[in-house]
Amino acid sequence: MRPYHACMADRLAGFPTRRPRRLRTTPAMRELVAETRLDVADLIAPLFVREAIDDAIEISSLPGVYQHTVDSLRREVAGLADRGVRAVMLFGVPAQKDAVGSGAFDPEGIVQVALEALRADLGDDVVLMADLCVDEYTDHGHCGIVRDDGDVDNDATLEIYGRAAVAQANAGAHVVAPSGMMDGQVGHIRGALDDAGHDGVSILGYSAKYASGLYGPFRDAVDVTIAGGGDRKGYQQDPRNAREALVEVAADLAEGADMVMVKPALAYLDIIHEVRRHVDVPLAAYHVSGEYSMIKAAAANGWIDHDTVALEHLTSIKRAGADLILTYLTGWFAERAAELDGRAG
Ligand code: PBG
Repeated sequence: MRPYHACMADRLAGFPTRRPRRLRTTPAMRELVAETRLDVADLIAPLFVREAIDDAIEISSLPGVYQHTVDSLRREVAGLADRGVRAVMLFGVPAQKDAVGSGAFDPEGIVQVALEALRADLGDDVVLMADLCVDEYTDHGHCGIVRDDGDVDNDATLEIYGRAAVAQANAGAHVVAPSGMMDGQVGHIRGALDDAGHDGVSILGYSAKYASGLYGPFRDAVDVTIAGGGDRKGYQQDPRNAREALVEVAADLAEGADMVMVKPALAYLDIIHEVRRHVDVPLAAYHVSGEYSMIKAAAANGWIDHDTVALEHLTSIKRAGADLILTYLTGWFAERAAELDGRAG
């Protein structure tokens, strides 16, 4: 191979030896040399199921996303499965909230009821994941037990998480996904699952989860307001920190996480890239509610093209190093992929 400076000299002399545009000449050529491919099997659909409603309710800040009844959820998941979606992540919206978030571990809690129904419908055809946290179920909106001084009590919260994990596994979850950012949560949940005979249930850790403003629409989706105008900065990561994400990921892996996640995705592509360099387990990224809403809002105003930007977001997250993407765009992508397949056939 000729030294680089020699190539540069040729270029400067007007004899370019390399012209990258040759590989961009036709759609077939571009397809041939594409380094990143997005497949419907890479995507996980986040879905909401709400207790005590008769019909699905569209979430105004998340157009096209619904708070489902158990029945409408069953239809939704069956439709996604038909289009090749391999995994869903369930979030519950209970009718009653309390100080400890009992709905998260009650065997009759809404997510447990939904898991049982889906497992009965689909068996092992779709990987059933359950978000494991209590903020949707607590009246104060925090991800754990709040002490008198207002701080979230880490170890008291772990007890509740352990119970929620067992309830979800009993109901048929294949994967539990702790998202509360309590220290030691993965190890505690692993122990609780194993003690209950669920050593085959996997843990997807929301390992590097940032205290982000991009979760706004999600909080509408699960009817959560943090008491007293509070925030989650006492447990979620500071957006200024990158190395700290590796500390969190290493801790989760040491405690037995089978897969890890970075969240949100687009403002954290550097974190996804860095975590990818350090771990060999499957890496997920969460394209969160605000990321989805920004596309929908700008597209509705005619400011950007929805499909182009949606595809660009998902492709970039994969290019940065994520194997799996949790995204509200899953249904859209699966539909689009099915249409493209149809055309090719
Ligand atoms: C916590 C949880 C949140 C999201 C997923 N799990 C909210 C939060 O931490 O405030 C946000 C997901 C999204 O914005 O799409 N149970």
